[in-house]
Amino acid sequence: MPDSVAVGSYSALLRRSFRKSFPPAVRGEGVYLWDARGKRYLDFSGSAAVNFIGHGVAEIAAAMAAQAKQLEFVHSSQFTTPVAEEYAAELLEFAGRNFEGGCVYFTCGGSESVETALKLARQYQVEIGQTKRYQVISRGQSYHGSTLGAMSVSGNKRRREIYRPMVREFAHVAFPYCYRCAFDCTDSCRRCGQEYAAELEKAIESANGEVAAFIVEPVSGATLGAVVPPPGYLQSVAEICRRHGVLLIVDEVISGMGRTGRNFAVEHWDVAPDILVTAKGLSSGYAPLGAVVVSKRVADAIADGSGFFMHGFTYNSHPISVAAGSAVLKLLQKEELVRAADSERQGSTAATLRSALEGLRDANSVGDVRGIGLLWAVEFVADKATKQPFPPKLNFAGRVALAAVERGLLVYPVQGCVDGDSGDHLVIAPPAVITADQIDWSVKQLREAIQESVPRT
Ligand SMILES: Cc1ncc(COP(=O)(O)O)c(C=O)c1O
Repeated sequence: MPDSVAVGSYSALLRRSFRKSFPPAVRGEGVYLWDARGKRYLDFSGSAAVNFIGHGVAEIAAAMAAQAKQLEFVHSSQFTTPVAEEYAAELLEFAGRNFEGGCVYFTCGGSESVETALKLARQYQVEIGQTKRYQVISRGQSYHGSTLGAMSVSGNKRRREIYRPMVREFAHVAFPYCYRCAFDCTDSCRRCGQEYAAELEKAIESANGEVAAFIVEPVSGATLGAVVPPPGYLQSVAEICRRHGVLLIVDEVISGMGRTGRNFAVEHWDVAPDILVTAKGLSSGYAPLGAVVVSKRVADAIADGSGFFMHGFTYNSHPISVAAGSAVLKLLQKEELVRAADSERQGSTAATLRSALEGLRDANSVGDVRGIGLLWAVEFVADKATKQPFPPKLNFAGRVALAAVERGLLVYPVQGCVDGDSGDHLVIAPPAVITADQIDWSVKQLREAIQESVPRT
């Protein structure tokens, strides 16, 4: 099996890049992955903030195999299944009081879940007689998925640029980003949350009553890099949405399922969304799985209205995927992994990670270290005093990631946090089973990888 192919030829698999070499991965256990040559990698970013429970957990594989033996698939237009019904109830309970009496729609991942949420929001508005409402406002520098609908509400410039003629444009509003705050705050961004929220209100007011929903990542995922919102921001956003009859969709594809030290990140700010989207940690990567958690108000509108959700995928509520998700949920509860991911709890895995990463602030080119729970980002700058980013062509984040891989450390490099093109950061989101020694080793490797990548002047 080739891990790299000569320019002008390629493997039978359409890979993400025709230029990069990809080692064939063959095994995983705990925080480690191995390639076919026997090289071991510590998965410091949970692949792409996916793995939360660790690799190679036998009981998840057993639950999936048992389901496959019993019943591999039925179509959701003909049957429901006990495994999907039970898991939906478990997940609703995990999502807390806000979703009491609501329901869950299972998909195969984040993008499908976002598509589902967008259509659900539109249908909700139609069901309650608000037929003019169809627009979905989102934030610049956001990422909600790679399907065309999800891309239309994503602000990630790089990922959407060539597809722009194909997507419907709605308003994108400004987003808090404290390291580079647009309001030049001198009070550690204590008050600017209200200013950002006010921009949302302005956008809603200028859309002639056509806004159906606002979609937001409570903690920014990859695009901006683990930016935690300033105090009061999400609460104000929720209040503005409610006042204007606009549904609040929170995208917890990355931040959900314990990753930030709460079951869902919105719990940090006591915000009650109408629709919550999650994926990644939901199955920890053991099966393709996403979920849309729907509040009672939204579900009731459809149940008491047309009675039919105008939407469906062949593989929604796939029995093997939901069996994996249910087994993952039971395991993360049994092992108390959400507690481990709470960076505010002294002595937790996440607190250890936070202080180890904070220690990188003195490293050459490290401009910012930010995050919460087990979701962190390290932003690089060419000049610490002015916060000047590296030229995008240098691909500094990519260089650091490559130097880290050489050392057997996997991190997730992203470019564009400053303006869509420039800005380099790494997302750090390890499995919650990582030990203090493994954190220590990883941060040492990362420091060396950063030092090695700094351009010589
Ligand atoms: C916040 C957020 N939403 C949606 C998605 C899309 O999820 P998927 O890649 O599973 O389709 C992602 C993926 O990274 C994400 O980070």
